[in-house]
Amino acid sequence: MAGSGDKKLVTKLVMAGDSNVGKTCIVSRYTENTIPSYISTVGIDFKTKTIQIDDTELKLQIWDTAGQERFHTLSVSYFRGAQGFVLVYDITNPNSFENTSLWMKDIKMKAGEEVEVVLLGNKCDMEDKREVSKERGEKLAWEHGIPFFETSAKENINIENAFFILSEAIYAKRSSLLIDRSVVNLQESKKNPSCLACR
Ligand code: GTP
Repeated sequence: MAGSGDKKLVTKLVMAGDSNVGKTCIVSRYTENTIPSYISTVGIDFKTKTIQIDDTELKLQIWDTAGQERFHTLSVSYFRGAQGFVLVYDITNPNSFENTSLWMKDIKMKAGEEVEVVLLGNKCDMEDKREVSKERGEKLAWEHGIPFFETSAKENINIENAFFILSEAIYAKRSSLLIDRSVVNLQESKKNPSCLACR
C-alpha cells in the first residue's frame, strides 16, 4: 500500500487486436485472476488495477475494445488519449498476426507516434496448434521498437510481466499522466465516454 505522502496517478490503457485473440481474457486474468466463459465483447468496458512504482500509486484504467470488424470504428474511437496499448494476436491465427500492422496504424493515428505499445502473442499454451513462430513475433516487435511477450491468459503466462513493462514505460514519461481524481470520476467516465477523466 502507498503511504499518505505518495503520489497517485491514473493512466488509460487500451486493448487492441482482432476478435477472439483473447483480449477480454487477458484483462480478466490480470485484474481478477480468472478468465470468463466466452462472451464476445460487443461494446466498450474498462477495468482498473492499481500498481505501485517507486513512490507512486499508478491506477491502470484498462479499456477492453471489441475486435469484431463491425465495431471497428467504435473501438478505434477509444484509442484517443490513451497512454498505452496492449496489442494482441493469437499464435494459432496467422491473420490476427498480419492484422497487427493495421492495428498499429490505427494506434499511431489516434494516439500519436510516441505512444507506448506492447505486443502479445497470446494462447502460447496451444503449442500443437501454433501457426505463428515466436521469431516472427520478435521480429515484428523489433521492427516497431516495442516489447514482445508470448502469453497465455488461460495458463497465466507473462500477463503480469506484459502489463508491468508497459506501465513502467508509461511511468517513465509520467508528466503526461492524470492525477487520480477518485473512483467517482472513473465511474463518471464510464457513463460518459467523452468525460475528461478518460482522455
Ligand atoms: P472480442 O471480444 O471478439 O474482440 O474477442 P477477444 O479478443 O476479447 O477474445 P476473448 O478474450 O473473448 O477470447 C476468445 C476465445 O479465446 C475464448 O474462447 C477464450 O476462452 C479463448 N482464449 C483466450 N485466451 C486464451 C489463452 O491464453 N489460451 C487458450 N487456449 N484460449 C484462450
